[in-house]
Amino acid sequence: MKLSHFPRVVLTQAPTPLQHLPRLSRLLGGPDIYIKRDDNTGLALGGNKTRKLEFLLGDALAKGATHIVTQGARQSNHVRQTIAAASALGLRTTVLLEERIPNTDDDYNHNGNVLLDRIFGAVIEARPSGLDMNHELLAIGERLQAAGEVPYLIPGGGSNAIGALGYVESAQELLQQINQQQLDVHHVIHATGSTGTQAGLVVGLQGNNSHIPVLGISVRAPRDRQIENVTKLARQTWELLEIRGEFPTDTVEANADYVGEGYGIPTPATLEALFLLARTEGILLDPVYSAKGFAGLLDYIRKGIFKAGQNIVFIHTGGAAALPGYRNILERYAAVYEN
Ligand SMILES: Cc1ncc(COP(=O)(O)O)c(C=O)c1O
Repeated sequence: MKLSHFPRVVLTQAPTPLQHLPRLSRLLGGPDIYIKRDDNTGLALGGNKTRKLEFLLGDALAKGATHIVTQGARQSNHVRQTIAAASALGLRTTVLLEERIPNTDDDYNHNGNVLLDRIFGAVIEARPSGLDMNHELLAIGERLQAAGEVPYLIPGGGSNAIGALGYVESAQELLQQINQQQLDVHHVIHATGSTGTQAGLVVGLQGNNSHIPVLGISVRAPRDRQIENVTKLARQTWELLEIRGEFPTDTVEANADYVGEGYGIPTPATLEALFLLARTEGILLDPVYSAKGFAGLLDYIRKGIFKAGQNIVFIHTGGAAALPGYRNILERYAAVYEN
């Protein structure tokens, strides 16, 4: 695998811990749950984008970029980490924040990641939902070029084949830890959105001859579309790395049963997962991604699909910086949870 051939900047404090959750595992009476702490990657409150940005910004610097352009939903973790990483490398940033969720309040619009975006320092422009955001990125790129800058465009979530290399690396790190801890892992599970995390993980595992299955819990798209999108990016990543043979497409699996009303709208199961992990293990999830993924894990355990005797690894992709943006919903749920 040619991972070391790609330009890269070091942003991640790796390896992130692979940690057993003894209290929650005992409480549920099912499998032993392990959590890979990619919420603790070290950059700007952490999260899965740090690993992607190592390769994306490495590529940007190799191409002489002066200005990073990216986009995301208003409470995007990807946008927050991109601005911080670019600032740390002395690059300017322009970000487009899409008003993807209707009827949001002041905290959603100004607190959490949005506040951090302003602290880390970028030109921030809003866009209504329903636009072709890639087209919007291109237009900003052209504007910057005309002003003499060298723009580098990063797609939403940092999910192209270069970004996915970060999760190929994470899969290799996980395999080493599994080896060191002598674990027989039955399943890896995590939240999947713009697809780079899952595509990279599957390529990293399969490309290293590990056949541990990976289940992506979708936070937005229906199952078939998510599988199609992850498979497409995994194939591109496999080819970029020049791994021998064809990418095994039957290794991509997703479940969209935990999305609820839509992207960024937590369900009761999302909130239960968030509060349960906080109160049994002292670990924060987020209401958009990781708690939806964890709600999927809890449901699989409660339904007996994941059972006692197995070891399950949850990849914690971060996102807790969005929590203040969801203050009202979380305060209301705290009152219910305590009764
Ligand atoms: C906290 C968190 N978890 C999971 C994801 C999903 O990862 P991906 O977009 O690579 O599928 C994201 C993406 O924005 C995220 O911010």
